[in-house]
Amino acid sequence: MCGIVGYLGARDCTSVLMDGLEKLEYRGYDSAGIAVFEGAEIKTVKTRGKLAAMSEKLEREGSPKGHCGIGHTRWATHGEPSDVNSHPHSNGRVTIVHNGIIENYAELKEFLTEQGYTFLSQTDSEVVACLLDYYYAERNPLHAITETLKELRGSYALGIIFKDFPERVYAARFGSPLIVGLGEGENFIASDIPAFLKYTKDYVLLDDNEIVRLDPNGARFFDLHGMSIEKERQTAEWDVEQAQKCGFPHYMLKEIHEQPDVVGKMLDGIVKDGEPDFTQFGVTDDMLRGFRRVFITACGTAMYAGMVAKYAMERLARVPVTVEIASEFRYMEPIVGEGDLVIVVSQSGETADTKASLELAKELGATTLAVVNVKYSAIAREADICINTLGGLEIAVASTKAYSVQITTLYLLAFRFAFARGEIDENELKRLTEQLCGTPKLISDVIERSDECQFIASKLVNTETLFFIGRGLDYALSLEGSLKLKEISYIHSEAYAAGELKHGPIALIQQNIPVITIATQRHVVEKTISNMEEVKARGANVIMICREDARVADGKADLRLDLALGELDDLLAPLPTMCALQLIAYYSSILRGNDPDKPRNLAKSVTTE
Ligand code: AGP
Repeated sequence: MCGIVGYLGARDCTSVLMDGLEKLEYRGYDSAGIAVFEGAEIKTVKTRGKLAAMSEKLEREGSPKGHCGIGHTRWATHGEPSDVNSHPHSNGRVTIVHNGIIENYAELKEFLTEQGYTFLSQTDSEVVACLLDYYYAERNPLHAITETLKELRGSYALGIIFKDFPERVYAARFGSPLIVGLGEGENFIASDIPAFLKYTKDYVLLDDNEIVRLDPNGARFFDLHGMSIEKERQTAEWDVEQAQKCGFPHYMLKEIHEQPDVVGKMLDGIVKDGEPDFTQFGVTDDMLRGFRRVFITACGTAMYAGMVAKYAMERLARVPVTVEIASEFRYMEPIVGEGDLVIVVSQSGETADTKASLELAKELGATTLAVVNVKYSAIAREADICINTLGGLEIAVASTKAYSVQITTLYLLAFRFAFARGEIDENELKRLTEQLCGTPKLISDVIERSDECQFIASKLVNTETLFFIGRGLDYALSLEGSLKLKEISYIHSEAYAAGELKHGPIALIQQNIPVITIATQRHVVEKTISNMEEVKARGANVIMICREDARVADGKADLRLDLALGELDDLLAPLPTMCALQLIAYYSSILRGNDPDKPRNLAKSVTTE
């Protein structure tokens, strides 16, 4: 999604903006631009392409010299990536940058055209600049903003500067994140904290329908009626170090290596006296006993984490759990209501479909519980109950450590659920918790075998299509392993329940097609091995990821990664096993010459539908 940065202070604005946009690159983009006051004039430089192209253009055209301005990285929605469609957009008196989608831009554009406005771009965002100008007739910026916002439908985070006010930056939001950084004699606006973290850790979260004005006296906040409001000042838990690669070649590899630590932190945050304690979040055994059904709704990796939770909750707590893709859940008129628990899982806490599903579940009377990695996010603030997964900043687009802390949290919730409902006793609760507390070491052991994962990746590098297969939790793992591989190596892969292959997809198996078989679930391992033999007999190149004690006849697997899981309960096998799949995906991406941190077409947080 797009990145927004704004600055007012004594530093060189262009440098601050470009530095901030670089810290937001992980959000995904295809063009960039800045607008900076040079005296009384606003100088805008923007271009299709990455920030390197911006730097070259600034070199060629000269960097704007000033102390007040706004910047943007655009992830195209309306209009292809091009110089003219890049932000900032201006109509002369008003210049803006925008993240989100204006759903009624066409009717607004028609109205503004009738008022004599002309448009250079195909974007919805340019309409906002003209509408602000239209309401700027009284030359009152706040009035222009409040009147404009009342007419917009859709989602927006806006950075706005007015030519008549060279020492002011305005911002407003609805549905897209926007944060105000508060420094010493300088202030910032940004889509996310890393953009200004090197200058200050103090921030204010703008809520929907709120406006901020940065001026030499500081930051002032207003509601949609232009009334002044007070906002809580907060301090980020991260430091600049965490927002860097710390010697790793990519954020993704750094974040894979952080998993033992962040899973351990999450365990420490919830496990008290050897068992999970959720009372700190307001979740009591009585409350858990009261739920008749559980729904889990999320997108992508977060949804696949939900699938792991389904197996754990149903097997242990004997409560029915339905996992729904959030973009389906929000439009399927779900049969959800009072007495149901709806768990929404999200790393960013800003995913539009997941946020909308949360809001729908609340409307329907369900109790909502958010498992999120960004505690200041919209989902974190809107859910009835919020559990912060303590994963730290996850910058790589491909989610890795967030997945691990998500399933760690959900496992602990499943254990508590089962105990509260009398399905397991205190001993079993402590046994499972103790086993889970041993998984950071098992994840580390897999990381120690990165070279074997890299070797497996080397066998995939010239592949254009492959299968992942597994049963039960191994099927849930196959889905996430397939997504990881697809999204950063661009190898097409499909994940199938191993027992399903015979019902059609086996027709696709031919000589040398790789089939990655995941076999950690001991109660079905023979069945999985039989499925593996079926594809081997048809020429597949079988790569097996299994427990070290899995018995497989010679010649049935072309490659094996034996995981030393010891007596780890099958239920908890996903934590170390997923790390192997993440590493295989990472090295496949590298070997195919891709940038695993910034995969094509993808954004870190999908804040639009
Ligand atoms: C993960 O590797 C993907 N980049 C993507 O599927 C992601 O998990 C999904 O967009 C959900 O994001 P969220 O967890 O921030 O809601």
